[in-house]
Amino acid sequence: MLKYKWILGQLAAIVLLTATMPTHAQVRYHLGKAATPQEIAGWNIDVRPDGAGLPDGQGSVAQGNDVYDANCASCHGTFGESNEYLALTGVGAKLNYATTLFDYINRAMPFPHSKSLTADQVYAATAYVLNLNNVVPADFVANKDTLPKIKMPNRDKMKLFPGLMTIHGKPDVHNVACMKNCAKDVKVTARLPPDFVKNLYGDIRDNFRGLATMNEMAPAEDSLPAPTKDGPTLVEKNGCTVCHAIDHKIVGPAFRDVADKYQGNADAMRLLTKKVRDGGSGVWGTIPMMPHPDISNADLDIMVHWVLKQTTKK
Ligand code: HEC
Ligand code: HEC
Repeated sequence: MLKYKWILGQLAAIVLLTATMPTHAQVRYHLGKAATPQEIAGWNIDVRPDGAGLPDGQGSVAQGNDVYDANCASCHGTFGESNEYLALTGVGAKLNYATTLFDYINRAMPFPHSKSLTADQVYAATAYVLNLNNVVPADFVANKDTLPKIKMPNRDKMKLFPGLMTIHGKPDVHNVACMKNCAKDVKVTARLPPDFVKNLYGDIRDNFRGLATMNEMAPAEDSLPAPTKDGPTLVEKNGCTVCHAIDHKIVGPAFRDVADKYQGNADAMRLLTKKVRDGGSGVWGTIPMMPHPDISNADLDIMVHWVLKQTTKK
């Protein structure tokens, strides 16, 4: 009987305790402080494909041109062409949603001063990069209504890259998740003969996949064939043909026209190698050629010599 009463007492105590106990959400440990809405807003910056999370504000392609020249061109090149960091021409082909471009610039750029731009400036930079990629027209204005409506050109065409190397037509690695009877000791071994691996893709810098600068990943110099150093190879390799062709104007003048203009000018070699190295504008129009500080004098000589030979004058 006594025991029975004791149990009842215990039960009553438990009932009382649970009734007065705060629910999980109410538990307070008196550590830290509640985040303010402003603090949460500072962290809650993600933008979703459908545009959820896009802030108020707007920016045009023209405004973006200014934002870009001031904050981005030093690394990504005046035309978004610089591979020194990452070329921005091409970004249009690899994104499913334009909102992702906004999200990325908003989070991470301009490196290393991310989050230093206003929402309007990020909209403008996004509009400008989209225009560089021919995704939107020059009068486009980016805001939270227009960005989500853009259909990026490759949205339905995405596919995964195969492995970097293929062996018998298959990727070089396969990763199958082991759920039972898994190997206890995994020994990692290289099976490919080193020379084969080293030369499989030639100079790996030429296999640029738009991920990062690969200058450090070059195979040992002695494993490469001596590079061909003629004019056509060098102008191709140095990206001149992005802006120049022999017989028609692209961004820069036709090489044939350059050659004709300087025909008979004894100072042409010096003038033009300097121009290509230092960049500049005004001779053929207002669009500048960017500097090429990393090309050796020897290569500059070969290229300009070759350019000058494209003359139509005899
Ligand atoms: C100091 C150099 C620097 C500046 C300035 C800079 N960026 Fe970048 N940007 C980078 C680097 C480095 C990466 C690659 C980052 C990575 O992969 O983690 C990058 C990546 C990007 C990418 C992703 C490209 C891709 O193909 O994935 C975009 C878009 C971009 N930047 C836009 C901008 C814009 C717009 C600005 C100006 C508001 C800007 N960047 C300013 C260095 C810079
Ligand atoms: C991003 C575009 C672009 C690239 C890349 C480029 N150029 Fe140019 N180039 C131009 C423009 C624009 C001009 C006209 C500049 C002017 O009006 O003064 C020009 C002008 C020239 C001229 C004539 C210069 C003069 O003062 O008459 C030569 C020669 C030339 N480029 C050679 C080259 C070579 C060689 C390369 C590669 C190393 C190269 N360019 C890469 C855009 C480019």
